[in-house]
This record gives sequence, structure tokens and C-alpha cells, in this order.
Amino acid sequence: MTCSSFGKCGSCVLWQMPYEKQLEMKSERLKEMFGEFEMPELEVIHGSDEHFRARAEFRVWHEGDKSYYAMRKRKEDGRGVIPIEECKIVDKAIYDIMDPLIKEIEKNENLRFKLYEIDFLSNSKGELIITLIYHKKVDESIADDIKKLKDKFKNADFIVRKKGRKYVFDKNYLIEELKINDKIYKYKIIENTFSQPNRGMNQKMIEWALRNSKELKGDLVELYCGNGNFTIPLSENFRKVIATEINKESIEAATFNADINGRENITFLAMSAAEFSALKKEKSPLLASYDLKNVLIDPPRAGLDDKSREFVNLFDNIIYISCNPETLKRDLKTLAKGRKIKAFAFFDQFPYTEHMECGVVLERVNG
Ligand SMILES: C[S@@+](CC[C@H](N)C(=O)[O-])C[C@H]1O[C@@H](n2cnc3c(N)ncnc32)[C@H](O)[C@@H]1O
Repeated sequence: MTCSSFGKCGSCVLWQMPYEKQLEMKSERLKEMFGEFEMPELEVIHGSDEHFRARAEFRVWHEGDKSYYAMRKRKEDGRGVIPIEECKIVDKAIYDIMDPLIKEIEKNENLRFKLYEIDFLSNSKGELIITLIYHKKVDESIADDIKKLKDKFKNADFIVRKKGRKYVFDKNYLIEELKINDKIYKYKIIENTFSQPNRGMNQKMIEWALRNSKELKGDLVELYCGNGNFTIPLSENFRKVIATEINKESIEAATFNADINGRENITFLAMSAAEFSALKKEKSPLLASYDLKNVLIDPPRAGLDDKSREFVNLFDNIIYISCNPETLKRDLKTLAKGRKIKAFAFFDQFPYTEHMECGVVLERVNG
């Protein structure tokens, strides 16, 4: 991939390295990092290296009567943001609308004045939620100007945000369709709640988790389930699933998603991983009817807190999806004791960046 913002934008830090080399470099780094554990061969799973991001956030830069998208500067160039001409990592629907949208905004002083940030969320059908974030007082009167944008960009809904206030024109969610092993799953994804940024890689991650949970017996517990991204397809491999997540809106979406996909064996609960972990599997009546041998976790960058790690350590089989190899390594120091690491995958969710997403499957060794 080439991009006219390469070398200026602080997002694609590996812009000088061909994609194949990036994969090689990151794989070697992971093998080295996890060298102290008995790891199986690293499975390297990647997708397209351009137009892969289904959500993206840009600052807005105003100069004279022109407005531009802006990204943070490269570390070497100091603090602050720089205007960018294009962004090739965002998916095609976002890429195609970026330029005409900013030109339309430029023409309208009410929309343009103190516009600070524009966020995009897209689905596989090319529908968009576009969030305009302001540093000024905004009220309902902006509706007429947003209507003009909606007339022009028929595939987009708009949200206007200002500290503490939010106006939605006309909805704040998309219905995403993911193709997992030739089957289509539908998901409601809500603006400003977590959704996987790389659609293509997300599909491959779910397929990997399905493959690696196929032979597991018993029920499944899931912590950090978000909108049910993994839960819904994986529920087909288990008798019953209990899935938890801290964000109430995500849990509402997950419940809706189970329904539209016809999955009836899942219970979703809005609670933190630590709160749920405190229920302790043997003692809580809530968990009494579950045969709890398997757990799936997909925590934020901080990894597992102490209580959740202790809880996860009670299970025979652990599927750990991690967006931070440092905290994965820390957690494995506990979880790999008395367990065999059966699978180790690197999902290249974030080409051109240093970020690495991993998947690890652990199985208790008898005796
Ligand atoms: C990396 S995302 C994964 C979500 C989901 N598995 C997916 O694939 O879309 C991590 C999720 O953990 C949730 N979360 C963050 N802190 C949490 C906590 N302390 N307890 C439970 N969930 C938490 C976030 O809201 C987010 O949905």
C-alpha cells in the first residue's frame, strides 16, 4: 500500500516496511516475547493491508476558509496534529465519503465553526454513522444543516456531540453482517461502544475461536463479551453460554444480536469482570446450572485484574484473545501453570502499526 500521508501521519509508523516484512518482524517479536512458555507453532493470520478499518477518528484542522482531516504527528516530529490528504487504511465507504464530506462542511459556517473531530463507523454494506464533535454550544437548530448533509450522503446517519450532549440524526447504530465459515451473522453495532475495528480480521478471529472450541465439552463462560461478537457464533459449539460485559449498551446490543441470529442458549449480564468473578463459580446460584469448564476472555489492553485472573484460573480450558502481548504474557505466567498451550495465533488487525493482537488456547493437564 502507498498513501500520500505516509511519513507525516503518526498512525502508520511502519510505512517504510513492505507488508510481508511487517508480518515477519511482528511474528519474530512475538516468538521472542513468549519464548519462556512452551508455545506451539505461531499461526499468522492476516487480511488486506489497505481499506481494513471499519471505524476511524480524525481531528479537524481549520486554516483560512479551508478545513482538513488531521492526525497526530509522528513521535519524532513532536506533539500536535498535522493535516492529512487521505487515509488508505479506512474502509472504502469511509475513504470515499471523507473528501466530499469535508468539502460540504467547509461550505457551511454553522457546521464548520469549532468542529473539532469527525468519527466514522461503517458496515459491510457501506452504511455509515458519522459523528461530528464540537467545542462550542450546540443545540437542535443544527438539525437543518445536518439534514442537508443527510440529503447529500444518503448512506450516512449523523450524530452531533458536544461535551455532555448528543443529538442523533436518525439512528446511532448500524446492522453489520459478518460471514463466518460461509454463514452470515448479523450484529447491531452502536456508536461509541466497542466494536472490532478490522472487519476482515474479525471474521478470521471468530473462525479461529470456533475451530479451537469445537471439541470442548460443557458450557462456556465469557468475560468482556462486547456486543456478542464471539458469543453468538461460539454458542453453536456449547450447550449453554453465560456472557458478561461492563457496558450496558453493549449488553443490550448483544441481547438483540442473539435474538436476530436465533440463538436461545445465551444469558448476557451487564457487570464488570471483577464483579462476576466475585460470584465464584461453585457458590453462586446464578452459576449452579452451568457445567463450567470453559472460559473465553477478550479483555482491554490492561488484561485481567487480579480477581478476574483468579476466576479464569478455575477453568480447564481457556481461550484468551488479547490486544496487548505485554499483559497477555503477564497473565500467562499464572494461567499457563498446569496447562498446555494448544494454540497460539497472531491476528494482524493493525497493519502499519506496532500493535499486535493474539489468540491463545490453554488446556488443563491432568495430574
Ligand atoms: C477488546 S473489547 C472486546 C469485546 C468483544 N469481545 C468483541 O470482540 O467485540 C473489550 C470489552 O471489555 C469491556 N470491558 C472493559 N472493562 C471491563 C471490565 N472491567 N469488566 C468487563 N468488561 C469490561 C469493554 O466495554 C469492551 O466491550
